[in-house]
Amino acid sequence: MATSEKIIALSELPAWRSRMRAENRRVVVTNGVFDLMHRGHATYLEQAAALGDCLLVLVNDDASVTALKGPSRPIVGQNDRAAMVAALECVGAVSVFHGPVAADALRAAAPDIYVKGGDYTVDSLNRDEFAALQACGAQIKILPLVPGCSTSNIVKKIQTPQTLFGNTGKAATLDERLAPIFGRRSVREFLPRAVEQREIAALLEAAMAAPSARAAYPAEFIVLDDPDVRKGIAEFLPNGGFLANAPLGFVVCGDLSRACHGELSYMIQDCSACVENLLIAAHLLGLGACWLGVHPNAARVENIRKFFRLPENIIPVSAVAVGWPSKNPPPRTSYNADQVHLNAW
Ligand SMILES: Cc1cc2nc3c(=O)[nH]c(=O)nc-3n(C[C@H](O)[C@H](O)[C@H](O)COP(=O)(O)O)c2cc1C
Repeated sequence: MATSEKIIALSELPAWRSRMRAENRRVVVTNGVFDLMHRGHATYLEQAAALGDCLLVLVNDDASVTALKGPSRPIVGQNDRAAMVAALECVGAVSVFHGPVAADALRAAAPDIYVKGGDYTVDSLNRDEFAALQACGAQIKILPLVPGCSTSNIVKKIQTPQTLFGNTGKAATLDERLAPIFGRRSVREFLPRAVEQREIAALLEAAMAAPSARAAYPAEFIVLDDPDVRKGIAEFLPNGGFLANAPLGFVVCGDLSRACHGELSYMIQDCSACVENLLIAAHLLGLGACWLGVHPNAARVENIRKFFRLPENIIPVSAVAVGWPSKNPPPRTSYNADQVHLNAW
């Protein structure tokens, strides 16, 4: 039978039922949403069909799916969902029903056997539907669902930000409007050219423009324009030896006594925001820079503390090497859709 011929208007159900009765066919009925058909649906419907001679599937209309599953559902409209169900060989007829419960449609369909899937029990069936089934003497069968197959799982899989936000993953869009963000790369080799006072002032001002918890602004900046000082600090940084060859450097410290609630974590976060601002500002000025890790390495913190004879409350957090880049690493995205979670973990 053609798929379209299997789709029956609710008003035609009683006539269809009479025909089935006249043909002496045992009618099996089930109802459901069938949004994004998957193997679980096919297996379940095949098992249901095997219980009688003709399987009628009552498909929820779109409004009831939205009411049951939320505003993002259904993904596939009722006519298409009905057509997909009807296209299965094991399905004899399909009818779209209205409202959250199928009681009226069940009364019209008068099943010999009613099938429900999943963790339902006879007791947990909707009471109106149960009454309709009892009235026509239907036998009720609960079939197990195929584990791991669910429309909700498919939706979770395909509704990644990659598809939702049009980002194509690693080969990402590098949106031109955000060029300074993607263009900021760690620069570790510099031209032998001084960084002028004007640039230094601009970098400091940019760093201090960073957000700060409770506007506490606990960051302090030690400017390293003396080559000997840069060399001295570089010796404490096993991964930052190139600071000695950079024309400029900074040590960013935090004043714990000024941090939000006196919390080390807030202080580190505030200082880190300053460092990131400084790095982006350097890139915007045509300079290159690299973040050099200090905190929480105890030896680096202690050595820098001693070197500058820092007061007890001043904690070195990071260093930064700055200069005119001898080569510019290309803009890059690190976008990874696997690290993005949409409204849920
Ligand atoms: C907390 C922190 C500490 C870092 N420490 C160092 C360091 O000691 N030496 C270094 O060469 N790069 C350091 N980096 C830079 C990272 O290696 C760099 O950001 C990362 O490899 C990504 O490359 P990109 O900055 O070019 O995007 C540090 C970055 C951060 C955020």
